Amino acid sequence: MRSVVIEKPNQLTLEERPIPSPGKNEVRVRIKSASICGSDIHIWHGHNPFAKYPRVIGHEFSGVIDAVGENVSKARLGERVAVDPVVSCGYCYPCLTGKPNVCTSLSVIGVHHDGGFSEYACVPQYNAKLLPESIPDSIASLVEPFTIGANICGKMQPTELDVALIYGAGPMGLTAIQVLRHVYNVKKIIAVDRIDERLTLAKENGADVVINNKDISLTETLNDVPTLIIDAACHPSILNEAIQIASPAARIGLLGFSDTPATLVQKEITSKELTIFTSRLNSNKFPEVIEWISQGKVFRKN
Ligand code: NAI
Ligand code: MN
Ligand code: ZN
Repeated sequence: MRSVVIEKPNQLTLEERPIPSPGKNEVRVRIKSASICGSDIHIWHGHNPFAKYPRVIGHEFSGVIDAVGENVSKARLGERVAVDPVVSCGYCYPCLTGKPNVCTSLSVIGVHHDGGFSEYACVPQYNAKLLPESIPDSIASLVEPFTIGANICGKMQPTELDVALIYGAGPMGLTAIQVLRHVYNVKKIIAVDRIDERLTLAKENGADVVINNKDISLTETLNDVPTLIIDAACHPSILNEAIQIASPAARIGLLGFSDTPATLVQKEITSKELTIFTSRLNSNKFPEVIEWISQGKVFRKN
């Protein structure tokens, strides 16, 4: 089979590899679609601290089960599946409290294990999630990025009273916007980015108002008082600004992994009783997102 392999940072090769055999509790997926994430580029360029090399990258993919290992029912052969990249142990504290995405022995397909930029991949059977016929191969690999939006939004429990502000209209911001608009039906969505082309996409994906903040500070110019803020731009300076512009009782959701320190003032957080959520990958959100896509709730334009 052919596989896209990052041999070491900055060295990408298209390699001929033997087709793998599924191990115990594993299925082999003949891959039909895979999408490129910003983090694939980071692994390529050596900027992902978790990656081990050489690595077949790709954690957003789907396909058909064409072989099963020991302990797996043969009935699964031929199933069309999207692959959840989160591999967890099932018995540590995070796993037992519903957060397998931060399992103490977490590993991620396409980061710690070989991933989906290949003709075949073997994955734990639990991670291969059944797709309905209504989701074609052409979009099935995009279930995973929508699980990121689903995970952060699900924690923040948006309601129809919420005025949401999303920093960053890249793929992550856009999936969050679709989820807030079409699943939670929030009152208003404001998208903030520095690139006009991306703000146009934000509008197409469900934002009511878009703001280019390249040359302005939101603390001085924002007319709304957001009650729910998601940082999908992930610059370390954003949390501080979000705290200033947030309504009392607002929730702030963070997706970033920056290791640059940010200075915060306790009083500004506590006096408004703000809640700060963080979200990493997804905790069993595949079935929910698959349902949303098949109902036409997300993965659509307005
Ligand atoms: P992206 O780079 O395509 O999008 C980020 C957007 O933010 C860009 O359009 C950029 O112009 C904008 N931006 C940058 N600084 C800004 C600022 N100060 N104010 C407003 N907008 C600003 O990235 P993508 O793929 O959408 O991912 C976004 C972030 O989410 C990345 O940092 C990534 O590491 C993180 N991420 C986190 C995950 C998690 O599970 N926590 C999963 C996937 C991505
Ligand atoms: Mn991704
Ligand atoms: Zn665990």
